[in-house]
Amino acid sequence: LHVAVLMGGWSNERPVSLMSGEGVAKALEERGHQVTRIDMDRDVAAKLAATKPDVVFNALHGTPGEDGSIQGMMDLMGLTYTHSGMVASVIAIDKELTKQALVPHGIPMPGGRIVPVTEIYERDPLERPYVLKPVNEGSSVGVAIVTAEGNYGNPISPDTKGPWQEFDSLLAEPYIRGRELTTAVLGDRALMVTELRPKSGFYDFDAKYTEGMTEHVCPAEIPDEITRACLDLALRCHQLLGCKGCSRTDFRWDDERGLAGLFVLETNTQPGMTPLSLVPEQAKHLGIEYGELVEMIIAEALA
Ligand code: DAL
Ligand code: MG
Repeated sequence: LHVAVLMGGWSNERPVSLMSGEGVAKALEERGHQVTRIDMDRDVAAKLAATKPDVVFNALHGTPGEDGSIQGMMDLMGLTYTHSGMVASVIAIDKELTKQALVPHGIPMPGGRIVPVTEIYERDPLERPYVLKPVNEGSSVGVAIVTAEGNYGNPISPDTKGPWQEFDSLLAEPYIRGRELTTAVLGDRALMVTELRPKSGFYDFDAKYTEGMTEHVCPAEIPDEITRACLDLALRCHQLLGCKGCSRTDFRWDDERGLAGLFVLETNTQPGMTPLSLVPEQAKHLGIEYGELVEMIIAEALA
């Protein structure tokens, strides 16, 4: 096959996408495929048209590779591409729209509200502890946890330069104590549950991409009931949002509250494919090597 691997771009997750894309491209070359690497810029349509690939492997993260824009463009160009289509991407990139799509179907998600950043500078938008996050970022970019003692992550101040200067408003959600879990879906199968145990206590950008900063417990050492619920919820979120190929749903679990303490945070339509990433790790535990996983994601696109 001739595969165009789309990576990079200009989101805050550019470095992550370059790692995902390079991993995918190398694996495809090792398996004898012809690969064209495309670092997305404003000429991406012209580059894709000139490349004429059999299939595009979308290794982009964030905006506009995960938000429906590139998907809509590729639909118009008649290109076949991996992962979700335009509509699922538009909904899933937005954590508030995701809630509106999933909660009416009984998916447990934390409450919360969208708050103007200027208001956050003046007063707490929710009772502490709470989490502040951009609605449409990935990899914990711009996330802060505000506890009774203070705040963890990004400083909350109009004077501090930081990722928040890009956002007019943020999503404020009650902080769910306990544990961080995640489940990948490949095709119509939920893979496994991984628990993330960041050494710093906060699963932020550095904890996600610095080797050794987070322990991955896979399979997670949690009650069977919680494992079953995560697998079931991840598959339902994937289907309700209309995702395709591969997605990953992230959870918080308050282990003092049993099943009632399990909450979906979001579904990622372009989950990371770096060597430290969670989807390849879960696949490996099930005997699916990285290159095989890449081929399976492509097969889903071509089906
Ligand atoms: N947003 C990152 C790439 C992930 O979901 O894995
Ligand atoms: Mg995400």
